[in-house]
Amino acid sequence: MERLKDCIAVVAGGTGSVGEGVVRALIRDGATVVVPYRNDAKRERLEEYVRDVAADSGRLVCMPANIGDLESMNEFRRELVDRFGRVDLGVACLGGWYYGYSLHNMPAEHWDQVINDNLRTHFICVRTLVSLMHERHQGVYVMINGGAAELIAPETGAVSIAAAAQLMTARVLKQEARGTDIRIHSLMVYNPVKTRDRRTEVVDDWLSAEEVGDYITRLYVGSASNTDKTIHRLYTSSNLQR
Ligand SMILES: NC(=O)c1ccc[n+]([C@@H]2O[C@H](COP(=O)([O-])OP(=O)(O)OC[C@H]3O[C@@H](n4cnc5c(N)ncnc54)[C@H](OP(=O)(O)O)[C@@H]3O)[C@@H](O)[C@H]2O)c1
Repeated sequence: MERLKDCIAVVAGGTGSVGEGVVRALIRDGATVVVPYRNDAKRERLEEYVRDVAADSGRLVCMPANIGDLESMNEFRRELVDRFGRVDLGVACLGGWYYGYSLHNMPAEHWDQVINDNLRTHFICVRTLVSLMHERHQGVYVMINGGAAELIAPETGAVSIAAAAQLMTARVLKQEARGTDIRIHSLMVYNPVKTRDRRTEVVDDWLSAEEVGDYITRLYVGSASNTDKTIHRLYTSSNLQR
């Protein structure tokens, strides 16, 4: 059954390790999935990865754009509107891990990189996608986050700071969507995700990237439990409510 037939979805970060599984799951459920990309090799890798599901159900549309650059994403937004007229589902699956220094001796350029990749990209996606949803007063916007938003470890602190700010971004967006039919969700995925790239130390019960995508479909169609909640904490595959 194509639960996402007629859904126009954008997955920012769809070329990443969790994002590609989300893209695959949404296409399998019948969505048209638009992915901004900045690297041709990664685009080809994604196209290859979803080819089988795209043959039967939804479709993948890759559009060149740099999520780190506001002007580039303004252009992406114009093209998205020209081609599809709207966005029904926006997913932001962005960022990078950091391990290196305690805050008190962290090089400033490392700090800037973490804030750029893990927070500014989210701000730009909000400007690009949530603004479009506000024009129609409807849409579902999902931000993928990790346990770092609530857990702290030395030498990775900047990631936790950005993740906590990302969590607050979702809460702010929810307040700002009051009086509309826009839903905002933050998915906090606590364990490592089983991705294509992860080759060692995989625990069977961790969520796969496609299971994260399935959860997003269920949020979108309203069949996940507590669909009205903003923050959804996801732990293992077996305790995920079906
Ligand atoms: N991986 C896990 O096990 C895991 C577990 C729990 C939660 N999460 C969460 O899932 C989310 C994604 O993580 P991931 O592991 O999939 O990361 P990833 O493989 O590094 O992918 C990150 C994505 O973000 C894009 N990106 C990052 N910085 C950018 C920038 N400055 N400008 C433009 N694009 C940028 C990358 O684009 P390119 O492809 O062009 O580089 C890529 O598509 C994060 O919020 C993370 O906390 C991940």
